[in-house]
Amino acid sequence: MDSYDIRGGERLSGEVTVSGAKNAVLPILAASVMIPGETVLDNCPDLADVHNMCEILRHLGCEIHWEGHHRLRVDASGVKGCSVPRKLMKRLRSSVFLAGPLLARCHQAVLSAPGGCAIGSRPIDLHFLGLSALGASVTEREGRLFCRGTRLRGTPIHLTYPSVGATENIIMAASMAEGETLLQNAAKEPEIVDLQNFLNACGAEVSGAGTEEIRIRGVKRLHPARYAVMGDRIEGGTYLMAAAITGGDVTVRGLNPAWLSSELSVLARMGCRIETDEGTVPDGGDGWIRLSAPPELSAAGFVKAEPWPGFSTDLQSPLMALCTVAKGTTVIEEAVFENRFQCAQELKSLGADISVEGQRATVTGRANLHGGRVAAADLRGGAALAIAALEIPGETIIENICHMDRGYGKFDIVLKELGANIERRETHGRKTSGETTGISKE
Ligand code: EPZ
Repeated sequence: MDSYDIRGGERLSGEVTVSGAKNAVLPILAASVMIPGETVLDNCPDLADVHNMCEILRHLGCEIHWEGHHRLRVDASGVKGCSVPRKLMKRLRSSVFLAGPLLARCHQAVLSAPGGCAIGSRPIDLHFLGLSALGASVTEREGRLFCRGTRLRGTPIHLTYPSVGATENIIMAASMAEGETLLQNAAKEPEIVDLQNFLNACGAEVSGAGTEEIRIRGVKRLHPARYAVMGDRIEGGTYLMAAAITGGDVTVRGLNPAWLSSELSVLARMGCRIETDEGTVPDGGDGWIRLSAPPELSAAGFVKAEPWPGFSTDLQSPLMALCTVAKGTTVIEEAVFENRFQCAQELKSLGADISVEGQRATVTGRANLHGGRVAAADLRGGAALAIAALEIPGETIIENICHMDRGYGKFDIVLKELGANIERRETHGRKTSGETTGISKE
């Protein structure tokens, strides 16, 4: 497995434009299965998870072509299969997003448990409760889920938890059901608004995304569209925290600052100067955020990682890394996943002062971090280790960075352009920096 070799202490400065959002493009790609004809996605990120999703769509009969690095053409006219092999399901969490679209298009779906970061049990009960409410029958045999639904019918559905994935799966299935679905206690993340906008561009009738009540009027068919995926707010927040830990001054472009309002208020509390511009494009495509860090960061106090519009759980680990060198004590509560403090142990091996009790981590700064050899256990935990390493003048090696390739395209290239001393190495030590995620192009 590849690793990053980081020699920190360099102040990051300059500008970076985020890629398209991983957590927006994955449900949108799943939704394309419902659409006969060629859908064109602009601002599509070059990520391992995207390539894995493309492999699933190809297996189902879609034709997929990349135009350059960020435009994807998906022709789902030839969708014939409705079964996703276990090995493909296991590669990513978003494979479960195929349930709704396959039921809508083929009236059946055969899946198994999805993969994804080991940050908790991550059940999928809410997905299938919603699909069953729409009239699908779901039976499990030998670890395979057999879903059938010849005529899905709209209905009121109340989610017991605002699950992002379940919200997206239900929206997709309901978009071609008969009648109207009222989804209550829906997740409100910006990526769900992007899915709504994509589906409506294809002729769906979805409204209310971004609020806890989403209304979906089923239509008989959807038509292809060309759509630009929203910017990745989590990638943007990660680079802002990398700038903050190095005392840097970085502008992140291609996203709407409102998508990071909770996170920006925490960074301001820590002493960072934040300037923003919403941009002119309604979906935030040309908005920007500039962060100028103080000579010494102050602790963040109490931060709770929770569903939107709270502080994003996907930036909880990067924030933990940042707080290790902030003056004072920060208490971080993780209210979304039950096992998302895995990077704490690795940060402690670099000299951080962190104590974890249940869903709370207490971080005391300012620690004098030192270099070492650590391993990423999940996508955002890997980013946290890289952020900490950027502050350490000595050498830090981060192993298992394949986790990071799932959600950060060209992480090392971006950080190097901002002034970091970072090299990507293959397991046997050969330098491979300067390449993209190393995934072969289709
Ligand atoms: C999405 O995961 C994101 N992934 C995650 O990003 C993100 O952390 C998460 O939403 C929360 O914002 C993608 O969009 C591909 P959930 P998802 O369903 O859909 C429980 C990253 O780092 N739950 O909102 O899996 C579940 O156990 C990734 O980019 C059920 O109990 O999140 C968890 O505790 C990580 N039953 C909580 O809800 C269900 O049926 C949140 O899960 C579904 C979820």
